[in-house]
Amino acid sequence: MFSSKTIEQFKNISTPFYFYDMELLKDTLELIQSEASKYGYHIHYAVKANANPKIMRLIQSYGFGADCVSGNEIKRSLETGYSADKIVYAGVGKSDKEILTALETGIFCFNCESIPEIELINELAEQLNKKARIAIRINPNVNANTHHYITTGIEENKFGINRWEFDSVIETLDNSNHIELIGLHFHIGSQITDLSVFKGLCLRINEIQEWFNERKIFTDHINVGGGFGVDYNHPDKNPIPNFASFFSIFDEFLNLKPNQELHFELGRSVVAQCGSLISRVLYVKNGINTKFAILDAGMTELLRPALYQAYHKIENISSNEKSDTYDVVGPICESSDCFGKAVSLPATKRNDLLAIRSTGAYGEAMASKYNLRDIAESVFSNEIL
Ligand code: LLP
Repeated sequence: MFSSKTIEQFKNISTPFYFYDMELLKDTLELIQSEASKYGYHIHYAVKANANPKIMRLIQSYGFGADCVSGNEIKRSLETGYSADKIVYAGVGKSDKEILTALETGIFCFNCESIPEIELINELAEQLNKKARIAIRINPNVNANTHHYITTGIEENKFGINRWEFDSVIETLDNSNHIELIGLHFHIGSQITDLSVFKGLCLRINEIQEWFNERKIFTDHINVGGGFGVDYNHPDKNPIPNFASFFSIFDEFLNLKPNQELHFELGRSVVAQCGSLISRVLYVKNGINTKFAILDAGMTELLRPALYQAYHKIENISSNEKSDTYDVVGPICESSDCFGKAVSLPATKRNDLLAIRSTGAYGEAMASKYNLRDIAESVFSNEIL
C-alpha cells in the first residue's frame, strides 16, 4: 500500500523503476535480528536475492554475514562492508579464479558441492600455502514442495553431495592437507511456505550428522541454507514473514552438539516484500477476448512470472475507477512476457502507474538487457520521501 505522498513522488520519476521501502526493510531486519539472537543463530544474507549496494549496506549494518555464489558477489560483499570472516561461498561451478579470490580474501567457509571441487580447492590452497575452511553441501533428498525450478535438495538436482558419496568424501578429506572441514551445509529450495518441510530437513540432518559422528567426524557448525517463503498474495497483510515460527522449528527439531553453531542463508524472506516494480501503462489494447494493459516494464525487469509462472500482486495506483479485467504484459518480443492474465484492476488507461509488488528479491538481481533495454533505476523511500 502506498501513501498518496509516495504516489505523488512516483509521478516525477521516469519509469520503470524499482522502489524500495527502506523502513519495511529495517523492520524486517530488526525482527530477524531479535528472533535469531534468542538462539544465537548466525545469519548470512543471500546476496543473489538482491545485490543492490544500498540494500546490502543496510543489511550489513545489522551484523549479518553474506552468502555468495560468485567471485563478484564476494567482491560486492566486501565493498559494501561485510567482513570476510562472515562470508560463505556456495555454487556447483566455482572457477579456479573465483576459488583463488576467495582463498586470498580469507572467507569464513567454502560450501563444497562435489569431490572434484574439494580436490581443486585443496590444490589451490596448497599453492597459496593456506588452509581452506570448508563445509560439505549435502543433498539431503528432502523435497521442498516448491516450483521444480527452485527445488535443490532432491537427488536428481545438480546441487550438493549425495549420501552414497559420503565414504569417498571422507577419503578425499583424509588426503587433503590444505582443507579443514568445519561444517555441514544444506539448502533444499526456495519459497518454502510449509514449515513442516523444514522440520523434515532437521530430522534428516540429525540422521546425517549421526552418520558422521559415528565416524568421529564432528563439525563446528551446521548451515541450513535459506528458502523461507513470503506471502506474494498479501504483501500488505503479511509484509514480514513469521521468523519466530521459522527459527523455533530449528530450535525444536535440530539436534545441535554442545557449542555447535547454526547458520542460515536468508535471501527472499529478507528483501522480497520491501521492493515493488513501478511501471507506466503505455497502451491499452483490445484483444479477442481480453484487454491488454501494455507496460513499460517487462520480463527484463522482473523475470519471475515468465520463468516460473510466479504470481506477483499487481495494483493500479493511479485509478479508483470500476474494475475491469486485463492481461498485464510487457513490451518484450516474447509471449511469455506477461505479468498476469485476467487481472482485475480499476479501469486502466495510458500513463497510469502500476505497482508490481514483492519484487525486492530476484527482481533487480535477475534483470537483463534483452532487446537492448536499459537497466532500470532503483529508488529508495528514504531518499524521496
Ligand atoms: N543458499 C543457497 C545455497 C541458495 O542456493 C539460495 C537460493 C539461498 C541460500 C537463498 O534462498 P532464499 O532464502 O532466497 O529462498 N530466482 C528464484 C530463486 C532462486 C533461489 C536460488 N538459491 C526465484 O526468483 O524464485
